[in-house]
Amino acid sequence: MTSTLLDNIGLLVTNDPAHGFLTAERENAAIVFEDGVISWVGDAGQAPPADERVDVDGRCVIPGFVDSHSHLLFAGDRADEFERRMSGQSYAAGGIRRTVAATRAASDDDLLERATLLVSEMRAQGTTTVEIKSGYGLTVVDEVRSLVLAGRLTSETTYLGAHVVPPEFADDPAGYVDLVTGEMLEACAPHARWIDVFCEAGAFDEDQARAILGSGQARGLGTRMHAGQLAPSGGVRLAVELGAASVDHCTFLSETDIEALSSGNTVATLLPGVEFSTRQPYPDARRLIDAGVTVAIATDCNPGSSYTSSMPFCIAVAVRDLGMSPAQALWSATAGGARALWRDDVGVVAVGRRADLVVLDAPSYVHLAYRPGVPLVGRVFAA
Ligand code: NIG
Ligand code: FE
Repeated sequence: MTSTLLDNIGLLVTNDPAHGFLTAERENAAIVFEDGVISWVGDAGQAPPADERVDVDGRCVIPGFVDSHSHLLFAGDRADEFERRMSGQSYAAGGIRRTVAATRAASDDDLLERATLLVSEMRAQGTTTVEIKSGYGLTVVDEVRSLVLAGRLTSETTYLGAHVVPPEFADDPAGYVDLVTGEMLEACAPHARWIDVFCEAGAFDEDQARAILGSGQARGLGTRMHAGQLAPSGGVRLAVELGAASVDHCTFLSETDIEALSSGNTVATLLPGVEFSTRQPYPDARRLIDAGVTVAIATDCNPGSSYTSSMPFCIAVAVRDLGMSPAQALWSATAGGARALWRDDVGVVAVGRRADLVVLDAPSYVHLAYRPGVPLVGRVFAA
């Protein structure tokens, strides 16, 4: 048993839930953690003795980022699509099938090596909890394999057999939904905590999404959903109605969607890297926050719509282009992500929570947006 004291923290962000959607902060603080769990939080210079002392010399300490949406199990590269989008072509769901072909052809070792590299990129940028989806396999064997590999990197694994209809089912989408809700679900459920569906033109419609999420719920999985990425749809309301933990993208929202979100318990997860990489309009985070909706920010790291592993980048864009304050963006990238994953052990700095802590090479978290693109993540403690 080893205890560590983080001393002389200039500014500590705790996200005490009593402060609602805003970061709770304290100045001149210290933290002690033991065996991966926080055992004491208080004023600098007053901490109980610990085996090891780390003096952070006035730096800012924040909870580790909780990236609640990523697709890290894939092979191949789609830089050409990004290049075409930057000169005017729009994003469409169909590109997913290119990654499916490359992923099916890759070996387990190859897939795991790439995903491991992305998780280390994330860790170096302050992410200590990550959700990882399947969804580039789209056969029973390939979806199970993605989830088994994802399970080696995180406990937050999501079954996304309903990403798109694969080419071999092009003439029989109903047959594919039967597979996703039947044999594929049976095989994948033991390896997944969540089920997700891409509810959008070119992927799955609302009726299909309802059937898919319902089958996952019946099998004991928590639900999450991709909706409102390319156009408004009933998907957002469906997510709230089904009690989904989170509905993600929410780029296009109607007044009715916002009312539904503010009356329900579903987190709206915004993915600013997607609008950045597809030249779409940014969602209006302030409108959601003003309506009392719980907002999370995540990377959506994937080779098609958002190939960034960086939560600091997403925070900078959220502040610059989604209308969030630096404090709101930080909250959404930590406590908000935790809520989107129904986790209360992460995203918060308090006694008894996981010691997931990021020391910023900056006096304040405001620098995450004020100094975009600068590597400000210093030491990362993951439990
Ligand atoms: O979340 N929207 C659906 N799935 C991913 C994109 C996947 C891809 O283009 O490969 C997303 O943006
Ligand atoms: Fe996604």
